[in-house]
Amino acid sequence: MPNQHFLTLFFFILLSCNTLTSSSSSEKDDTFDFVRPIDRKLLGLHKKEKLSHFKFYWHDILSGKNPTSISIIPPTINSTTAFGLTHIIDNPLTLGPQLSSKLVGRAQGFYASASQVGLDFLMAMNFAFIEGKYNGSSITILGRNPVLNKVREMPVVGGSGLFRFARGYAQFSTHWLDLKTGDASVEYNVYVYHY
Ligand SMILES: *[C@@H]1O[C@H](CO)[C@@H](O)[C@H](O)[C@H]1NC(C)=O
Ligand SMILES: *[C@@H]1O[C@H](CO)[C@@H](O)[C@H](O)[C@H]1NC(C)=O
Repeated sequence: MPNQHFLTLFFFILLSCNTLTSSSSSEKDDTFDFVRPIDRKLLGLHKKEKLSHFKFYWHDILSGKNPTSISIIPPTINSTTAFGLTHIIDNPLTLGPQLSSKLVGRAQGFYASASQVGLDFLMAMNFAFIEGKYNGSSITILGRNPVLNKVREMPVVGGSGLFRFARGYAQFSTHWLDLKTGDASVEYNVYVYHY
């Protein structure tokens, strides 16, 4: 059958492509070590590190037609701390406290209630910025959020783009909370070293 013939030819081409790529990459393997020292200049890291302070508002929207924070795992039964409750978020970050103020990025990630005695959340999120030269760059946060404390703090564990090699911390406090819906806006002050 002509169809079968075509298939054979197709697989032959596929196989030869694989052979080609694997032979060229093994050639590379012969000349490159697993790890080598590298000049900072090659990565543009010879300039002095900067310390920047970013301030914006994080909006956790649970209510309405377009929630940005969605419960994906319910809490364990009878837990007073919502232990286990997990939300996936794509929360807007705005310059001012109002949701309608200028959008500077989004906080994408999750938070989960991780304490059996208090209201402590594990937060893992990327601040994906769209503002000015930071458009496309992101800051990664991983930390503990004891929600009843007025000011909380979490580490900046890294970043991408203009935030390569970033480190620092974020301080944040609740600006507004709707006890009925759970909607909240939180002021973030992020202090970050980056190049
Ligand atoms: C939850 O608590 C109620 C009231 O204390 C109790 O009757 C029920 O058995 C508990 N459920 C579970 C699954 O522990
Ligand atoms: C950010 O960059 C993307 C992709 O390059 C572009 O489509 C978008 O318009 C930019 N956004 C802003 C606010 O500049």
